[in-house]
Amino acid sequence: GVHAVVEFSEKECIAALQDGTRILSTNHESTVPFKTRLLTLRFNHPGDQAAAQMSVKCLKQSTIPINELIQKLSSVDSIDQQVDLLTREYQLTEENIRLRFLVCSLLKDIAAAYFPESSVKPFGSSVNTFGKLGCDLDMFLDLDGNSGRKVGKTAGPYILEYQMKQVSSERMVTQSILSVIGECIDQFGPGCVGVQKILNARCPLVRFSHQPSGFQCDLTANNRIAMRSSELLYVYGSLDPRVRALVFSVRCWARVHGLTSSIPGAWITNFSLTMMVLFFLQRRSSPIIPTLDQLKSLAGTDGKCIIEGHDCTFVTNLSKITLPENTDTPGQLLQEFFEFYGNFTFSKNSINIRKGKEQNKPEASPLHIQNPFEQSLNVSKNVNQTQLEKFVTLARDSAWTLQQNEVSHPSGTHPWGLAALLLPSVSQTAGKNKNKRKRQPASERIKSLLDSIKASKVTKTTDVFCK
Ligand code: CTP
Ligand code: MG
Repeated sequence: GVHAVVEFSEKECIAALQDGTRILSTNHESTVPFKTRLLTLRFNHPGDQAAAQMSVKCLKQSTIPINELIQKLSSVDSIDQQVDLLTREYQLTEENIRLRFLVCSLLKDIAAAYFPESSVKPFGSSVNTFGKLGCDLDMFLDLDGNSGRKVGKTAGPYILEYQMKQVSSERMVTQSILSVIGECIDQFGPGCVGVQKILNARCPLVRFSHQPSGFQCDLTANNRIAMRSSELLYVYGSLDPRVRALVFSVRCWARVHGLTSSIPGAWITNFSLTMMVLFFLQRRSSPIIPTLDQLKSLAGTDGKCIIEGHDCTFVTNLSKITLPENTDTPGQLLQEFFEFYGNFTFSKNSINIRKGKEQNKPEASPLHIQNPFEQSLNVSKNVNQTQLEKFVTLARDSAWTLQQNEVSHPSGTHPWGLAALLLPSVSQTAGKNKNKRKRQPASERIKSLLDSIKASKVTKTTDVFCK
């Protein structure tokens, strides 16, 4: 059906709506008597529907199909324009973000039955500037108002303390709260279906689908560091438009080639890919974004933040950050991103956005990306060697494809540039490469071809200078 988010500018509007409508009393014996702010609007007299002939303009809540995107991308004039077009097609709209906040507030109403001072806040890609239409809704149940701890001093002789149940660990508290709230969502939450309690995960969560909004939701509690890393990504995404442009292109590329998946497993995640893009942008000869340590050194009292013993300090006032001059185009960055990771020494090095430099890998995982705040953790611990190899092969093939497009001029509407990278053929080549590995891997051949093209470019430039 059609759903609308209705915001009222004045209280009187609500009274006017109530005057003009009749609220049905539910006579159903089987209805769970839990009301939310989700209402169904129907015509009072069935005949009115035909007479009204309302034309409702619906705003898009999902991305265009990949074939349509490839066509659109092929019709513009440069890779820079393609990258920009993809970002505009995929990014969350203002309304979609509002809808995400609304769903959080509906969830808060459920949680408030037990925890009146709690709040539910969105984090992850819904708010970190890298969200794509259709991405999941990560929610954080913040119970801090319920801690009962009173800060400050009192001159009086008494100390007052709430009597609260004690359990053996913080993790158990999180698990039991999520278990109960998950049960409420399942039993009482209108439109909440497929509720799964995944309480034994490193970060316990309740996963469900919110049908009216169409969002896949993950509700967590006690996940303050993830909230902070969403803020950090927000800062990076806001510093320079090329950051988001590159992240959107790389995420889309990874999705069409099956490097990322909606099913959990040994795949690279969008979060890991974002870290890889940020690191690459820090490694430019004139860096496009600062390192996390630099952001930390710029922080004033407002940016200071320690969570569970981890230093999560960084500057949040963007005007304090000055960036060096860098004129790299988005197209150039995309090409060089693939070359950078096509040649990266994953076997030895760890990706570290705090230092902005490769570090020695502290453990044997195939792909090591240091968690920016919980520094002993590897964000991509789940990734296996096969998936990493697939990534490297595809990166090399894609660098090659882009290089070809630069050499041969695009013809008409034939997919070229970024559009060519989104065609399945690139991944098929990658698949074939795997079978031929015993001879010479095609990706190796592509790497040496790329090297030779680069070398010839350098020679040409030198020629010009000599003349
Ligand atoms: N997160 C983290 N460490 C991980 C995975 C996730 O700190 N290993 C945090 C990040 O802040 C991330 C958030 O949890 O942004 C949500 O995780 P997820 O939904 O997997 O990633 P998103 O960034 O939301 O991307 P997507 O669009 O794929 O949902
Ligand atoms: Mg998410």
